[in-house]
Amino acid sequence: MTAHSSIDQQFDVLIIGSGAAGLSLALRLADYASVAVISKNTLQEGSTYYAQGGISAVLKPTDSFDSHIKDTLNAGVGLCDPEAVKFTVEHAPENIQWLIDLGVPFTTDQHRDGKRDFHLTREGGHSHRRVIHAADATGQALSGTLVNHARHHHNITLFENHIAIDVITGKKLKQKDNRVYGAYILNRDSEAVVTFKSRFVVLATGGANKVYLYTSNPDGSTGDGIAIAWRAGAEVANMEFMQFHPTCLYHPEAKSFLITEAVRGEGGKLLLPNGEQFMHRFDSRGELAPRDIVARAIDHEMKRLGTEFIHLDISHKPAAFIKSHFPTIHKRCLEFGYDMTKEPIPVVPAAHYTCGGVKTDLNGSTNIKGLYAIGETACTGLHGANRMASNSLLECLVFAESACNDILQQLKDKTTLPAIPYWDESQVTDSDEEVVVTHNWHELRQFMWDYVGIVRTDKRLARAKRRVNLLLNEIDEYYGNFKVTNDLIELRNLAVVADLIIQSAIARKESRGLHYSLDYPEASTRDEAKNTVLNPNKIHNSET
Ligand code: FUM
Repeated sequence: MTAHSSIDQQFDVLIIGSGAAGLSLALRLADYASVAVISKNTLQEGSTYYAQGGISAVLKPTDSFDSHIKDTLNAGVGLCDPEAVKFTVEHAPENIQWLIDLGVPFTTDQHRDGKRDFHLTREGGHSHRRVIHAADATGQALSGTLVNHARHHHNITLFENHIAIDVITGKKLKQKDNRVYGAYILNRDSEAVVTFKSRFVVLATGGANKVYLYTSNPDGSTGDGIAIAWRAGAEVANMEFMQFHPTCLYHPEAKSFLITEAVRGEGGKLLLPNGEQFMHRFDSRGELAPRDIVARAIDHEMKRLGTEFIHLDISHKPAAFIKSHFPTIHKRCLEFGYDMTKEPIPVVPAAHYTCGGVKTDLNGSTNIKGLYAIGETACTGLHGANRMASNSLLECLVFAESACNDILQQLKDKTTLPAIPYWDESQVTDSDEEVVVTHNWHELRQFMWDYVGIVRTDKRLARAKRRVNLLLNEIDEYYGNFKVTNDLIELRNLAVVADLIIQSAIARKESRGLHYSLDYPEASTRDEAKNTVLNPNKIHNSET
């Protein structure tokens, strides 16, 4: 059901975000509770839709939970929460079955005995083939199915083209208990701010990779949920671990189009401009080493040789194989003049995934009552210092399921909502200089790329910190004086998230996983591995 927002809305559960996490949760809840789903754009315009690779799960007797757990822990370099890893891996098969039952068209394969079975591909860090996928457009297939079901459920109301500004908490309302009571949401069409009342608010807004100049993510990945949770007083963890995907298409007009890791999983080789393979010099797993290692190796070689890209080559495989496994990539590369069945394609790393986020327990619950975070917005402990490929869509599904169970338990308690004031615009005017927003947007993404990227130093981080402080002040002043717009809300969130990334990177005096510092090139011993947990008042490191 699609809605037009009026002045005031009330639902049992308010879900902010319409990707795999948000819509799975909505569908699981909707038979028992009224649900609103807020989507910044159209329902599908988020990172889920663009996911290529697939979803990891143990689906064959030759694989095992222990192996999936071990691979995930290895990729996370000492910082995964073993309980979260076990929980996720063990709930994977039932969630894949849930998707199959909903009708997601996963790719199948014919065996020699004529039977068909799901095709499982391989990606970096996995010691088995365990990635179920829909050719090279898994996100499209998944998102299409979830959206279709959500549009037809009478108990789900969809608010497209709406963006969340902030959640409403007891603290803001001067209540004794600091629980959540709803959120202020901007209707981007009417430009009205709508008050949504709800005792349960779930942040499922995806990651914050737009904080970098080059990213594989769509424009909306501005860390909204993380910034909203932070402003509300929620703890945020491990924000220094921003994952750069090793292979995005290099072309000025390609907008960092992703080339799935499955291309390497099916035999693709990374080559220097002279055709030499180089990954074995960095890791014995070669092209299928975890992402942090591959991205850093590419960055190293590009800097050493002064090149703007390296090559990815799968042209030794039969053309029919390439076209059937990677139809989307093949088509897109042809549009830019590269035929991957005949030649290598130029690739570069780009920001891809936010491993840190709002700190949650195994139910997606934050330290604020009634406030949940799931999917890329959350830091559940699954990814540690580096996420293993295709564990992210899995995390969306598993934590949507556990958050649903937790919310349904608590729905029984019918605490009445306090009076909530409407959004007050009496003190602000229309913006006089939109250029402030566009300028700051570009400046932020440029210095984050230059100073807080794949390789960091104390000096670069200090430079970034000075700049982000200036921007935070300027944006706050602007926000206090002018009416909110989509761009201003996103910029305000990006600046908060950039600051959290920089603070976390400064706090980590070692190199681990996705955080690599030339000043501290070694990892401290595993026994000392700590998460970086920030809360709005202080920074401290806690035991894993
Ligand atoms: O390479 C990929 O297809 C990306 C997968 C992932 O980020 O999990």
